[in-house]
Amino acid sequence: MPTIEQEYIETRPKSRALYERAVRNMPSGVAHDGRVFSPFPFYVERADSARKWDVDGHIYLDCWSGHGALILGHNHPAIVAAITEQAKRGLHYSACHELEVRWAELIRSCVPGAEKVRFTMTGTETTALAVRVARVATGRSKVVKFEGHFHGVHDGLVAAVKDPFEIPMSAGVPKATLASTLVARHNDLALVTELLSDPEVAAVILEPAGGRSMTVPTNPAFLRALRELTRERGVVLIFDEVVTGLRMAPGGAQEYFGVTADLTCLAKAVAGGLPGAALVGRTDLMDTIAFAGDPKRDRTHRVADQGTYSAAPIVAAAGVAALEILKTGEVQRELNRKGDRLRAGMNQVLKTRGILGVVYGASSIFRIHLGADAHALGLEDWTFDAARLDRGMGPLGAKLHLAMLLNGVDYNRGSANGWLNAAMTDADIDQMVDAFDRSLDRLRRENTLP
Ligand SMILES: Cc1ncc(COP(=O)(O)O)c(C=O)c1O
Repeated sequence: MPTIEQEYIETRPKSRALYERAVRNMPSGVAHDGRVFSPFPFYVERADSARKWDVDGHIYLDCWSGHGALILGHNHPAIVAAITEQAKRGLHYSACHELEVRWAELIRSCVPGAEKVRFTMTGTETTALAVRVARVATGRSKVVKFEGHFHGVHDGLVAAVKDPFEIPMSAGVPKATLASTLVARHNDLALVTELLSDPEVAAVILEPAGGRSMTVPTNPAFLRALRELTRERGVVLIFDEVVTGLRMAPGGAQEYFGVTADLTCLAKAVAGGLPGAALVGRTDLMDTIAFAGDPKRDRTHRVADQGTYSAAPIVAAAGVAALEILKTGEVQRELNRKGDRLRAGMNQVLKTRGILGVVYGASSIFRIHLGADAHALGLEDWTFDAARLDRGMGPLGAKLHLAMLLNGVDYNRGSANGWLNAAMTDADIDQMVDAFDRSLDRLRRENTLP
């Protein structure tokens, strides 16, 4: 029998040929760091519903779900109809239009604390804008972020994203810029309290349900304490709900945990799978972007914001279509149930096979860790080491992902996590559990399991 890697290589000749062309034209042959892949990535030809097809004819249950953006699955009929109709009426008007107004109304009706909405295009742009708004509103310059939390790739927030946390996730950022970012540890209120004693702190930003899409989970009690602390200190609390917004509930993690931020960053699900995002929050903060009609204030104390594609009609059409479906919470309730079913099923497989490991997460998000169980990792009592969780399974993670691909399932290889989508049935969840079982069997036969 060939090894997992041999079988992957032998059965994907067209992908291999495309990769050979790609590396001649693109750094590492990819368009996104998260798609770097050894021995070579598979190339997708089309997708529909819960699945995607590669150029060599393999079908994958898609638990990467458009990096989490496709909460309704691929090609949802309402989204396709909205985009198709809008494409006939114009992609971009260089003007205001009704769809953006409707989109903002829908967001406000779903998201707690969303008194005003500013549309952007990506999550990265949105967290950068949030920080700037907080700085102008408070007149202070520093921002507190958490180890293991990702907020996009702009300069200020690349600190402490990945282990080792002392090294920013990207080179090329001046030390002077990083000096205005203070790093806190998950669930450590004493440290945040100490950091907030610096009178220059404008904001605290975090992924409310946990860093890197719940890889490093957040204790809800800590979230509530953080809300109190920031309110007391007059520091702006920013929730990065790029992943969790509209997904955990119509009101995202804020509704799920019952904690409301001052500013919230939305992307992914909010635009129905198209490149669209939004910063939402308290009127007094959001109005730092508004023109007041006083030329001096508007020129010197206003947050400037503009993006060619912000709320482009084609994007707004998809966003409105998605939110009309997501606003009732029905989709999220079903997805959350399926998330529980998936995690329980995969954990049962580990137990039955006697393999040390855990599948954790919440709502419709899962993360796989092999080599230690929830107790040993400190997940049960929130005593975990964020760096250890961030390192995950090391090379075993890539091997498991290859085995899962051979068994017809894809997810985010880098962090061994994934997002369910509404096109997935209970039978699909069971297929995923079965694929996990068969993949572990294959790894065991290759003597790869710890
Ligand atoms: C929590 C979080 N914030 C921000 C971003 C950046 O969003 P974008 O890729 O749209 O720039 C991401 C991307 O995955 C994310 O997961």
